[in-house]
Amino acid sequence: MQKIFMTAALICAVIFLSSAKTLAAEFELVSYSAQVKLQWLATTGMPEAKKILAEFGTANIYGKKNLKDYDRLEKLNGIYQELCYASTAQYVASKNYKSIIDIGGGYTPRAVVMVNDGRKYLGAELNAVAISAMQIMPKFIKPEFQQNLFYDEVLVEDRFAMNEAVGKVGRPVCIIEDGLMIYLTKERADKMFTIIHDVLKQNGGCYITSDFVTEKMFKDLAVAIYGENSAQKLFDETAKMYENLFGEPLHLNTFKSEIEVINFLKAKGLNVRQVPLIEDPSQLYSLKKLNTYQASQLKKICAKNYLWVITAES
Ligand SMILES: C[S@@+](CC[C@H](N)C(=O)[O-])C[C@H]1O[C@@H](n2cnc3c(N)ncnc32)[C@H](O)[C@@H]1O
Repeated sequence: MQKIFMTAALICAVIFLSSAKTLAAEFELVSYSAQVKLQWLATTGMPEAKKILAEFGTANIYGKKNLKDYDRLEKLNGIYQELCYASTAQYVASKNYKSIIDIGGGYTPRAVVMVNDGRKYLGAELNAVAISAMQIMPKFIKPEFQQNLFYDEVLVEDRFAMNEAVGKVGRPVCIIEDGLMIYLTKERADKMFTIIHDVLKQNGGCYITSDFVTEKMFKDLAVAIYGENSAQKLFDETAKMYENLFGEPLHLNTFKSEIEVINFLKAKGLNVRQVPLIEDPSQLYSLKKLNTYQASQLKKICAKNYLWVITAES
């Protein structure tokens, strides 16, 4: 009897380990950056981010052990993530877009907030993230809106999958991109924007991002909180962390200037409007972490035209 039990236990262990290995192998390194972004965001105190993060148990990807300047990096990156989050969330709410595709959406709480607000949301992701997000995120969606949340494998260069995604959420579509650009080669970005143009031309809507001003925005924030001298160092350390996670150099300098990006997009038939990052910063959790001077500087950053609204030329 004992022998049968031991054999059964051994078979179970082998099955468990081999399936765990398969899942791990499917997770590309870049996928972990989504969890890191969620970790930073949760440090601001945002309840939705904290609840989603708790689903990952104790798996901390970065921490005091592997980041030298941990305390300053944590504060700065948390606030930076909240600005990225809030700018896209507020823009969607102000225009009342009902159909959202979040490319490289990871585990952002945007999904939960937007769906519970009556919108349709599709996280366009790599396969393993799409599967795990579909296991985690519906737990936070109200029963009546469960059918409005989707996570699918949609690679940015896959025209068919992108069109299918629009078919699920409807039109006009607001395509959100937050944190993906640094992982795309120029060739991939080129293919992606060709498809984005066609999708927007056919369906109406826009593509919103602050990714083309990442460095400027991050350093503005670093200056506001820690002063001029630290900004470059804190940016470099953060970039290094994402690079270590990715296992390859980041694509930070694909475009040499904003004008070059605007011309690149124009050549694809896309228009760019640069609008204030956040119209109403009063609800930011990050404000509670700042002194009066830092808070006033943060509000000035929110008023800068750091959100890019990209549309297809009509
Ligand atoms: C830095 S994370 C961004 C997470 C999310 N946007 C947020 O705000 O929390 C980048 C995400 O892009 C996804 N990704 C990477 N390459 C992709 C591709 N070619 N197509 C779609 N998603 C991709 C990764 O799996 C990862 O979740």
